[in-house]
Amino acid sequence: MKKILVVGSVGQIGSELVMELRRIYGGENVVAGGRKTAPSATLLNSGPFEICDATDPDAVRRVVEKYEIDAIINMAAILSATGEQNPALCWDVNINGLYHILEIAREYKLKQVLVPSSIAVFGPETPTVNTPQETVLKPTTMYGVTKVAGELLGDYYVRRFGVDVRGLRYPGIISSETLPGGGTTDYAVAIFYEAVKHGKYTCFVKEDTKLPMMYMPDCLKATVDLMQADFNTLKHHSDFNVGAMSFTVGELAAEIKKHIPNFHVQYEPDFRQKIADSWPDSVDDTAAREEWGWKPSFGLAEMTADMIEKIRAKVL
Ligand code: SER
Repeated sequence: MKKILVVGSVGQIGSELVMELRRIYGGENVVAGGRKTAPSATLLNSGPFEICDATDPDAVRRVVEKYEIDAIINMAAILSATGEQNPALCWDVNINGLYHILEIAREYKLKQVLVPSSIAVFGPETPTVNTPQETVLKPTTMYGVTKVAGELLGDYYVRRFGVDVRGLRYPGIISSETLPGGGTTDYAVAIFYEAVKHGKYTCFVKEDTKLPMMYMPDCLKATVDLMQADFNTLKHHSDFNVGAMSFTVGELAAEIKKHIPNFHVQYEPDFRQKIADSWPDSVDDTAAREEWGWKPSFGLAEMTADMIEKIRAKVL
């Protein structure tokens, strides 16, 4: 890949992925595409930034032509909780946005498209422990519906048009740089800020809610490793399970208490409880391990120590 466009570059993953890709490929070779939110100075000063909305194919085309882009990473998405509040917007951004990008990839013969999927493709009928790669995909959220359709669409473009489309089912992503927005797993980030700032947190899911999670350095590694994998070694394309750690909110709170002994959590579950309950506890990522060598580095203890250190440095 010579020139990469990251659509959705101002979000939780996009903002850090752009910096990682600029470190690997050079600042000028990674174009950050964003919509409304103002990009950080770090993003603006390290390479090109362009206004580029996934739902506006002409804007994406203009950027592709201007920079002779040969790969697009589509990080633009409406997450699960916002998706339930605004299903039409979720469909528009996640499906129409992806469709335009895949069509542009076909039209301009791009070398690669990477589009993340999510554990939200699973639903209440899916086995919850060590969820297999191939299993029931009957999500009950609009976000999940768009992610299943996105996986199928990606694989269709591989088969039908020979476009190199890749994707992985991110678990909840925990990070300290940019806040997540509108997801169900957002509590696993918010809890750290509240613990450091106020020593207490009111959680919107129950104490025994268990979900698969991943720390940002592993998320970046998974994304870049999949991008760089040899296409010929891939049997799957748009739907790799990737696991790292799984814990309940209670277990996370106990780990935080090792650093902040007086930390207190209370629980006031809202509509997001039902979403969390429809997702697995843990996933089987054998396919990712076998096909492109996936191996996570961070578990609960290492992630918690690092998060607290980074957030203390940021807010105190
Ligand atoms: N973090 C996402 C969400 O909560 C799951 O992919 O919506």
